[in-house]
Amino acid sequence: MSGFVRETRTSGNGMLVRVSMIAAIGGLLFGYDTGVISGALLYLKDDLHAGPLAQQWIVSSLLLGAILGAVLSGYLADAISRKWTKVISGTVYVLGAIGCALAVNVPMLIGFRFILGLAVGTASFVAPLYISEVSPPKVRGGLVSFNQLAITSGILLAYLVNFAFKGVTDNWRWMLGVAVIPGAALAVGMLTVPHTPRWLMDKGREDEARTVLEGLRRGDPDANVDKEIEDIKEANDRERSSTVRDLAKERLRPLLWVGLGLAIFQQFVGVNTVIYYAPTILSDTGLTKSSSITQTVFVGVTNVVFTVIAVLLLDRVGRRKLLLTGTVGLTLSLATLAIYFTSPVLQHSAGYLALVALLVYIASFAVGLGPVFWLMISEIYPTGIRSVAMSVATVANWAANFLVAVTFLSLGGLITRQGTFYLYAALSVLAFLFFLRKVPETKGRSLEDIQTDLLTDTGAKARTKR
Ligand code: BGC
Repeated sequence: MSGFVRETRTSGNGMLVRVSMIAAIGGLLFGYDTGVISGALLYLKDDLHAGPLAQQWIVSSLLLGAILGAVLSGYLADAISRKWTKVISGTVYVLGAIGCALAVNVPMLIGFRFILGLAVGTASFVAPLYISEVSPPKVRGGLVSFNQLAITSGILLAYLVNFAFKGVTDNWRWMLGVAVIPGAALAVGMLTVPHTPRWLMDKGREDEARTVLEGLRRGDPDANVDKEIEDIKEANDRERSSTVRDLAKERLRPLLWVGLGLAIFQQFVGVNTVIYYAPTILSDTGLTKSSSITQTVFVGVTNVVFTVIAVLLLDRVGRRKLLLTGTVGLTLSLATLAIYFTSPVLQHSAGYLALVALLVYIASFAVGLGPVFWLMISEIYPTGIRSVAMSVATVANWAANFLVAVTFLSLGGLITRQGTFYLYAALSVLAFLFFLRKVPETKGRSLEDIQTDLLTDTGAKARTKR
């Protein structure tokens, strides 16, 4: 287990870990906004006279902004660099957070939540993109997953901030406004990090790429900067494509499907119904409102703890094993929730079962599909098309997130609560089959090797066997 810690210690001079942590602040913004709104809504709805429809728009305008942010920044990350795209995203985030905190009516709040969404959508994939392009293969899984760790910490932080500001006047303004701090930290922090060597090489700036790489690999006994530069150059010469149309071409299409499948299944197993509605699910089991909110904190903590475990294991056990095992856990816990809500006897005699199932569910997501989706899409695409391809997968992820968020409550009315969980369980079985057949192992290999392998026939056959 200590492999990742040991390797990051020996693979360099602290610069690699520092720049990865700064880039991962993007994940914190993402997680904070995911977690904060349910608490803030409780209070702002009275202040701003927001009815159910207005509330739904306050929540989902961020998701729509995120979809658009992910579309725009796919091009931006190529044109002006990963680094500057993230500086802009942090700055827009600060403006969005100030606007939300000062909102005087519902349309103003919806508008600024949309602006916040632009920044969140951008940060959500430019963070893993940046980290994967600076990391050496042996620790890339753990480092890229700092981003998922930041997402889950952001969600937990939001639960705690909601809790801390419960009794304060204008509390929802504070809850939404506190987000200025990580936003500013991202914008300023990104000014201090270098461009990624792969982006520099793509722009023909080889000397700068070499200098950055030498800095990032200093002290790493396994590093071979010349070879890394050569490999990037070769891969760039082979693959020069950078539009969505290129991505849909036959050669790259299988990779497009892997990214889209991971993106959509990550949301269709229902994770955000647990994140957004955990207190509702728990209070349906008969708990009081206040204990439901307290138990929701357990869900947040479990999410963080198991993401730490994923960070430590991804480069050792491999992506596929964690993904597949995690998805089995998702299916079993969803089936348990479905059976629980079907059986009055269980509800009467085993109230704790719902909480246990929720915790197993979130732990299974945190060790598998949570980090692995963001990691994989940062690994499987050739440099020339990586940012556009990641932006396509990210758009699909936010769109699927939006769809699940707006349908969960009405699905409950339509096919009952247990029916909804049966549906998610069935979707996790499909997800498992898709991952088993289509998702390659990428552990310990350079981005360039992964690319060569995935784009050749023999590689395609071998790729799921590793
Ligand atoms: C997902 C989010 C989710 C979070 C929960 C992320 O990987 O993309 O939609 O809220 O994990 O931990």
